[in-house]
Amino acid sequence: MKKAFKVMNELRSQNLLCDVTIVAEDMEIAAHRVVLAACSPYFHAMFTGEMSESRAKKVRIKEVDGWTLRMLIDYIYTAEIQVTEENVQVLLPAAGLLQLQDVKRTCCEFLESQLHPINCLGIRAFADMHACTELLSKANTYAEQHFSDVVLSEEYLNLGVEQVCSLISSDKLTIASEEKVFEAVIAWVNHDKDVRQELMARLMEHVRLPLLSREYLVQRVEEEILVKNSSACKDYLIEAMKYHLLPTEQRALMKSTRTKLRTPASLPKLMMVVGGQAPKAIRSVECYDFKEERWHQVAELPSRRCRAGMVYMGGMVYAVGGFNGSLRVRTVDSYDPVKDQWTSVANMQDRRSTLGAAVLNGLLYAVGGFDGSTGLSSVEVYNLKTNEWFHVAPMNTRRSSVGVGVVGGKLYAVGGYDGASRQCLSSVECYDANSNEWSYVAEMSTRRSGAGFFNSQKLFYFSRCVPMDFFKSNSIILFSTFIF
Ligand SMILES: *[C@@H]1O[C@H](CO)[C@@H](O)[C@H](O)[C@H]1NC(C)=O
Ligand SMILES: *[C@@H]1O[C@H](CO)[C@@H](O)[C@H](O)[C@H]1NC(C)=O
Repeated sequence: MKKAFKVMNELRSQNLLCDVTIVAEDMEIAAHRVVLAACSPYFHAMFTGEMSESRAKKVRIKEVDGWTLRMLIDYIYTAEIQVTEENVQVLLPAAGLLQLQDVKRTCCEFLESQLHPINCLGIRAFADMHACTELLSKANTYAEQHFSDVVLSEEYLNLGVEQVCSLISSDKLTIASEEKVFEAVIAWVNHDKDVRQELMARLMEHVRLPLLSREYLVQRVEEEILVKNSSACKDYLIEAMKYHLLPTEQRALMKSTRTKLRTPASLPKLMMVVGGQAPKAIRSVECYDFKEERWHQVAELPSRRCRAGMVYMGGMVYAVGGFNGSLRVRTVDSYDPVKDQWTSVANMQDRRSTLGAAVLNGLLYAVGGFDGSTGLSSVEVYNLKTNEWFHVAPMNTRRSSVGVGVVGGKLYAVGGYDGASRQCLSSVECYDANSNEWSYVAEMSTRRSGAGFFNSQKLFYFSRCVPMDFFKSNSIILFSTFIF
């Protein structure tokens, strides 16, 4: 087939057997109806239909420029096309017209790869105009996730009021604080103040003032001339002040879209360190913000914990088991990054510290560990929906300080310490949830416990450091980190 098309293309270049000339602007391209019809539903309809073009020797296409038409007809014969920054804006609509879906898709993918805070709103509008649904939603999500940078762009400042409202009313904006939204509104209005200041109230309707701090409301919002100048804006400010005056439990009763927390699909990337020893088990939890390059204290664990298993599942962080300074614990706490709040969930059935924890098929697995006297082979699973733990098949080996990870839908338990021999393990076993069975895979060449695990595909990593002489020394520090 490839050879046949090659020959047809050669015939075309020698003007042999051509039965139609396609014209755009002053470009005339001889071609074969059957080839054009085979690749483009547009030409198919044209040449097989009742229209006069079906027999015409020359067909003029008005909506496409000459060079773009040439590229697309070359593509029909060769299946090759070069999409670039310069041609994509004309190529995409032309490919849409000729119904060359592959070209249109390639253009969309190209634009998607070009998404940047300075162009994503333009790409979003372009995708909307040309009915590229997937690109539209990607550009939209991109704009929401990079809101803080997007609002600095020319494109943002030139948006219409409806588009600004639609952007800032999204629940999915990824912002460190609602201040960003307020400042974005002020910047947009000030860009063309005389015309836009009367739109303040329409915009402020979507700014969730109650979520701002009292200090910011008093020092910044109230002092803003654009707010002072509008009585509707002042009402929004009063609503926010009232929210702050109410006791916490009554705030929930306030019926306003402005008191609702935004729930971004992906929060700004953070590294979280949970508990640990210093030198006793501690409750402290800190987050590192990669963008701001600093650590923040967040809500403390409900109880002291080190050597816990850590996972991120369903938007929540789980701290599983561990050691509280005197006992290995069964308790499990979950952290809601949006509310900055820890809540205890159902206890495990076994006490375990230095366990392995991982998420497989939406279930949380607690694997092996140490109960205070022996290494454990037992494995239990937490179901978030029922808030229950249940045992599954135990491993073939007792493993504390086990490294676990999920690859290709299977759970792996790597190395660890069995508590019997005086050495760490080099064996590795793999759990198949369908058959509920553990089986050994090839051994590692080195014995190791407390191994780290990294899954780059999910941008999720879990690592811990435990010195190899864990059981000889009491002064070990264990920490669990991961990125979500
Ligand atoms: C806002 O202030 C300007 C003067 O800066 C004034 O002309 C305008 O009438 C004021 N608008 C309102 C709604 O008070
Ligand atoms: C550890 O947990 C046990 C039982 O849950 C509790 O009695 C003990 O006080 C805790 N120890 C510390 C240091 O918190």
